[in-house]
Amino acid sequence: MKTSGQLVVLGSINADHILNLDHFPTPGETVKGSHYQVAFGGKGANQAVAAGRSGAKIAFIACVGNDDTGRQVCQQLSKDNIDITPVSTVAGESTGVALIFVNNDGENVIGIHGGANMALTEALVAQHQGLIAGAEALLMQLESPLACVLAAANIARQHHTRVILNPAPACALSDELLGLVDIITPNETEAEILTGVPVTDDDSAAQAAEVLHNKGIATVIITLGSKGVWLSEQGRGTRVPGFRVNAVDTIAAGDTFNGAMVTALLEGRPLTEAIRFAHAAAAIAVTRKGAQPSVPWRHEIDDFLQQQG
Ligand code: RIB
Repeated sequence: MKTSGQLVVLGSINADHILNLDHFPTPGETVKGSHYQVAFGGKGANQAVAAGRSGAKIAFIACVGNDDTGRQVCQQLSKDNIDITPVSTVAGESTGVALIFVNNDGENVIGIHGGANMALTEALVAQHQGLIAGAEALLMQLESPLACVLAAANIARQHHTRVILNPAPACALSDELLGLVDIITPNETEAEILTGVPVTDDDSAAQAAEVLHNKGIATVIITLGSKGVWLSEQGRGTRVPGFRVNAVDTIAAGDTFNGAMVTALLEGRPLTEAIRFAHAAAAIAVTRKGAQPSVPWRHEIDDFLQQQG
């Protein structure tokens, strides 16, 4: 029995240690930072927060360590409209950590320690079979063990739950997993790793999308940064432009896009409208620092869209 509008996110939780610098250090170089911040992040948690704040009915399957960070992040996720019942506390592991440099152009480089995120098991995923089966959509990324992503996608497919995969961080994926995905949302780098096609413009985005369609994915959305996204449905492609804003920090822009887009889709909006809603959410996020601190609430997205006319 499906619960109308129910979304399940499966993914990671991290504490982000963020240092702002003029430029990224080269090997052997030490660069003085201008601002240091610890904030909650993790691609899974960021996408869950984007969905929760933008109005989705959402439950989150994830793991934290038995530590203060894990307890604090769970408290915060609850305040963000997220059902955290499926978040497990793992003894003997620490909550995931990301070390992030942000340069003057708002770009970032990230190193992660998986910690408790990598303790998610197929057995744990199986415990949440009923939740995934009863949901309308399952949204995942790749900061969790791939075997768990595959196990959850298999449950979803068996129960007609739509699978949305944000294939980040970039890695090669099996045809078995890709064949279970309904909507995929790579950026240019991830699209190239999955398809072998370097994505530099609309034509190459269309070629990469075709490769992914041929693996069984009906809807391909390649995110192109400030150029918007390439949307391809069963081979019919178009570019959906984003909004121009002054970016100070692009951390979690893609995560915000994914969480907000799925929220809009579950409200029954057409895909291009859902993408416009997601572009608005991501545009707001890049004007703010940090991952989850930058994710907007629904009223902020609606106000932004109203101002665009
Ligand atoms: O996508 C941004 C996220 O990637 C950060 O919050 C960091 O935790 C890493 O997982």
